[in-house]
Amino acid sequence: MEIKIEKLDNIREAAKQFIANIGDSTVFAFYGNMGAGKTTFIKAVCEELGVDDVITSPTFSIVNEYRSEQTGELIYHFDFYRVKKIEEVYDMGFEDYFYSGALCFIEWPELCEEVLPDDTVKVSINEEPDGSRTITL
Ligand SMILES: Nc1ncnc2c1ncn2[C@@H]1O[C@H](COP(=O)(O)OP(=O)(O)OP(=O)(O)O)[C@@H](O)[C@H]1O
Ligand SMILES: [Mg+2]
Repeated sequence: MEIKIEKLDNIREAAKQFIANIGDSTVFAFYGNMGAGKTTFIKAVCEELGVDDVITSPTFSIVNEYRSEQTGELIYHFDFYRVKKIEEVYDMGFEDYFYSGALCFIEWPELCEEVLPDDTVKVSINEEPDGSRTITL
């Protein structure tokens, strides 16, 4: 399916559409160029899921943990941009997160492709020439 974000003002609506399509999936890999809007969209989705304290991006660690104030459930937000070797992904204990049953939103999944669960949902974010974003999943 495709979700269009014409402008930043519409991101909450887009996040709601995304959430409506989560189904039983838990691991989501977000592909897209630098600046495409991965962090911004994940943040909007987390806020819509009831997280009060979303950090913009896991800058100092590979993973941030959030908790939904609505459901009490944990959400993990990964950014593998700075990972240089797959060993770092093994060292951080990726399995404990990816197979926890908690929602996992992953930026730069290219760098951990080989350890992504088989049922990972691939999400692409594309910046159009007019500045709008197209999300495909
Ligand atoms: N849907 C959108 N509409 C307009 N501007 C957006 C949208 N999403 C993000 N932006 C803007 O684009 C810039 C980059 O966004 P963001 O940091 O989310 O990208 P990213 O894909 O996470 O980048 P990186 O690969 O560096 O992590 C920000 O200034 C943000 O405000
Ligand atoms: Mg980002």
